[in-house]
Amino acid sequence: MHLILESDRHRILVGPHERNTAPMSICRKALLACLAIILCHPGSACAQAASQSSARPSDPRQAWMDPSLDPDARADLMIHEMTLDEKIQFVHGAGWGVLRNGAPVAPGHNGGAGFVPGIPRLHLPDINLADSAVGVRMAALQGRYATLLPSVIGLSASWDPDAAFLYGSVIGRELRAMGFNMSIGGGMDLIREPRNGRNFEYSSEDPILAGTMVGQLARGVQSNHIMGDIKHYVLNDQETGRNTLNAELDTRALRETDLLAFQIAITMAHPAGVMCSYNRVNGDYACENDYTLNQVLKHDWGFKGFVLSDWGGTHSTVKAALAGLDQDQPGDDNFFSEPLKQAVLSGQVPQARLDDMVHHIVRSMFATGVIDQPPIPRSVVDPFRGRDDAQKIEEESAVLLENTGGILPLSAAKTHSIAVIGGHADAGVLSGGGSAQVDAPGGNAVDPKMGASVWGKAIYFPSSPLRYIREQAAPGAAITYDPGTDLAAAAKAASSAQLAIVFVTQWMTEGQDSATLSLPDNQDALVSAVAAANPNTIVVLENGGPISMPWAPSVKAVLESWYPGIGGGQAIADILFGRVNPSGKLPVTFAASDADLPHPQVTGLTPRTGNNGADAGAGRNQPRQRPQPFAVDYNVEGMAVGYRWFQEKNKQPLFPFGFGLSYTHFVYSDLKIEPDAKAVTFDLRNTGAIAGDEIAEVYVTLPASAGEPFRKLAGWKRVSLAAGATQTVSIPLDPLYLSIYSTTGNAWTRPTGDFLFEVGGSSADLPLHQPLRLGPEIAATVIVPSK
Ligand code: BGC
Repeated sequence: MHLILESDRHRILVGPHERNTAPMSICRKALLACLAIILCHPGSACAQAASQSSARPSDPRQAWMDPSLDPDARADLMIHEMTLDEKIQFVHGAGWGVLRNGAPVAPGHNGGAGFVPGIPRLHLPDINLADSAVGVRMAALQGRYATLLPSVIGLSASWDPDAAFLYGSVIGRELRAMGFNMSIGGGMDLIREPRNGRNFEYSSEDPILAGTMVGQLARGVQSNHIMGDIKHYVLNDQETGRNTLNAELDTRALRETDLLAFQIAITMAHPAGVMCSYNRVNGDYACENDYTLNQVLKHDWGFKGFVLSDWGGTHSTVKAALAGLDQDQPGDDNFFSEPLKQAVLSGQVPQARLDDMVHHIVRSMFATGVIDQPPIPRSVVDPFRGRDDAQKIEEESAVLLENTGGILPLSAAKTHSIAVIGGHADAGVLSGGGSAQVDAPGGNAVDPKMGASVWGKAIYFPSSPLRYIREQAAPGAAITYDPGTDLAAAAKAASSAQLAIVFVTQWMTEGQDSATLSLPDNQDALVSAVAAANPNTIVVLENGGPISMPWAPSVKAVLESWYPGIGGGQAIADILFGRVNPSGKLPVTFAASDADLPHPQVTGLTPRTGNNGADAGAGRNQPRQRPQPFAVDYNVEGMAVGYRWFQEKNKQPLFPFGFGLSYTHFVYSDLKIEPDAKAVTFDLRNTGAIAGDEIAEVYVTLPASAGEPFRKLAGWKRVSLAAGATQTVSIPLDPLYLSIYSTTGNAWTRPTGDFLFEVGGSSADLPLHQPLRLGPEIAATVIVPSK
């Protein structure tokens, strides 16, 4: 019906040029209104719009500018007034713009990664999209400042949904101040491949943790009336060969892992956008994949926002449009410009589908408030507020992995000399590269140059750990710095100090994976040399994702700071000296070696491509290298991602998922499970001498009939406890997390039989456990004594 209205309207009533310039005649408007009322499906958004606006003002724009109408009705009213050309204009970007040297920049383009020109006559604003995975990208090009937040994997180590909301709200706040109205951050791909170059943009190997944290992050972005996005949908779990690889995973495993993470975040945040990824998923490219886009995202989950392609990730016109792609970005491949118009005119893509594409976009603009509350006037980003927020998040995110003999926290009074070694700790902290790169204020702290960050280069931010260590040490303490480039010199510096703090770095970036879990640049040898020279060696990690640590037994303490953000130097010093009690827990497993992973080598990473992932710089100034398509067989581990793999294969990780130490100690007792497993309740006691936060974790093992021989995270709570305090903690359990996906019924069902619930402070340390039989009827709770 809608189709007839639109195609008739286009054919009979008006040509595109005429409609772009001439106001609509009264006769046309009357006809349109009648057609809309007659042809709209009863109960549809357009019917609602038509009835809600029966007293429509003479200027049709006033009708959809009425904020009392719902976003769908408003979008339909506007779409009825759009020409075919205007619709086509809104389903693709205006090109690479400032991203590519020499490319013309469209008027209104705000200097971000993408731009869709608006339609002023309809009051439809431009869409200005900015990369903003860990802070707003490309600020320097416009002479602006943006806050560098800790990496997303770091944020997820806080297991704190409120911190995730804050994280997103910093990004939304700064995007708004700079005049952007859409974020294209929201990295969500599951950490299946621990050597993936973009893990620092992603959250976790566990779908519930990842979905919750990224969902809250997107909510935070959108709380500023900025359109949020979640990406890269889906199975873009490695960078090597990302433009051509075919990710293979059977449907049940896909639904219960990578898709579950997206499902949770999308239903929690209702983001405006979901960015489909470069890779293929079980045969079809992700941006023309009917199963993942139409069937799962839009049908099963009822996603109302729009699907936009990753930059250059569209491969067709008709197939992509019919499979559910709504907007082609950045648009200069022309799939959704003239070719789409011709496909609509020839009927290969129904007019109704084009309207649907525009509807998804425009309704998201109304729903998030970017039309009613545009980011005007612009303002100056508050760097102090951003830094405070970044530091607060980092203080919750750093994970204390080792603390032999309680060497930490350091006592300023008792520490008279420290050798700080390596990691450019004198200059700043490391950040991740690629489209997540935020520009450092003043330029790269280790190689200051004016202008924007250089693609492919490690960028350090001016938050020097050495400076803050000096500030917190006792006056007169000898705090030396050695760059760690010469092992003998580093060992000498270490041997002449009371203790040594070695900073090690692993620079990771979009476009390439690490070939190995090992630290680069001979840093394993550096730590070993320092540890041999000084028995009181502390290691601080600045890394994108899991690494191996062959030297772990020979050092006293290891602090995981991730990429710690603009407040990183201070947060690290605060933890080392005990101003902050560390509380983060690992959102990923740290394997002892590559050999223990489901894929001992990154698939497709050949000696020829080395560490350069074969797709380096995809979509950048460098020409794309397109390797031969290959398959990545994720059925090797299937549902057993991360910690589940280690449990299933009975392998011992270096540090398990969910693990992290504190300067205090927590004791768990008295587990109870509410009837029908609606919640678990237990007592948590801080038995140490200082206040601290504990992340209490709940795992479930499903009945054997489910075919999942491993425990899975089912819930958690971050609890603050004063020294000596006890709290009864209750953690609700979502029935979805106790269920399995049935491919025959295309539904989630909770299996019946014997469940095991376990509670504790890490996936490998669960002092409370209780079996519970659940049937179709509510089974009686069986309480067994805790260990
Ligand atoms: C990345 C996206 C990014 C886009 C725009 C692509 O290469 O995969 O995450 O948003 O570029 O910069």
